[in-house]
Amino acid sequence: MVEQTTAWDAIFRRQGNVWTRPQEDMPRLLDALLAKGAKTLLDLGCGTGRHVVYFAQHGLSVHGLDNSPEGLRLTEQALREAGLAAHLHLQAMYDPLPYGDDSFDAIIAVQVIHHARIATIKQLIGELERVLRPSGTIFVSVSGVRDQGTRFEEIEPGTLVPLDGREAGLPHHFFTPDELREVFGRFDDVDVHLDSTKHYCLLASKPA
Ligand SMILES: C[S@@+](CC[C@H](N)C(=O)[O-])C[C@H]1O[C@@H](n2cnc3c(N)ncnc32)[C@H](O)[C@@H]1O
Repeated sequence: MVEQTTAWDAIFRRQGNVWTRPQEDMPRLLDALLAKGAKTLLDLGCGTGRHVVYFAQHGLSVHGLDNSPEGLRLTEQALREAGLAAHLHLQAMYDPLPYGDDSFDAIIAVQVIHHARIATIKQLIGELERVLRPSGTIFVSVSGVRDQGTRFEEIEPGTLVPLDGREAGLPHHFFTPDELREVFGRFDDVDVHLDSTKHYCLLASKPA
C-alpha cells in the first residue's frame, strides 16, 4: 500500500490544482451556514484549497488540515492571490486533531475520510464529533461507486486498493448509504445523496 502523504503529495506536485471549482453542494451549504450564523469552518483534507478559498471569500474563519506539504503550499498561494488568509495545519488526520472540543461551527471533508480502513474511519469520526460544536454542521463526501475500469485488491470487506490509475495503492473504503448513516449514527438531521462525481455526500448536525 502506498503511504498516503506521498501519494497525494506526488499527485499535487505532478498535476497542481487537480480541482479548482468547489464541489457542487458547497453553494447550498454556504447559504445554510450563513443563515445559521456560522463563523468557523474546518476543511479536513483541504488538498490544494479550493474550499478553503471559497469559504474564506465568504467571510468564514477557515482552518485547513492536510498531510500534503504541496497541497498546503498551493492553498497558501491561492489564498495569497485572492488576498485572503486562513489557518493551515500540516498533519495526518488520523492523529488526534490539534483543536479543542467544540471548536468549529462547521466541518467539511470532501473526498477524504474514505482513504482508510473502516476502524480508522470510525475513530476519525469520533474526533470530528469532538471538535464540532453542539448543533454544528458536518458535510463529508466519500467513495460510493467503484470505477468499473479500475482493478482493485480488497484488503477487508468494502475497503479496496486500486492496482492502477492515479490513485494506485491508496486504500478506499466504498460506503453504502446505509453504512454511511450508521457510522454517523450519533449525529442528527442526517441526509445522504449521491453527487455527480459518484461520491456519497452526508450532511448532518451534532446534537445540541
Ligand atoms: C481527493 S483529495 C481531496 C482534496 C480536497 N478535499 C478537495 O475536495 O479539493 C484527498 C485529500 O486528503 C488528504 N489526505 C489523505 N489522507 C490524509 C491523511 N491521512 N491525513 C491528512 N490528509 C490526508 C490528501 O492529501 C488530499 O489532499
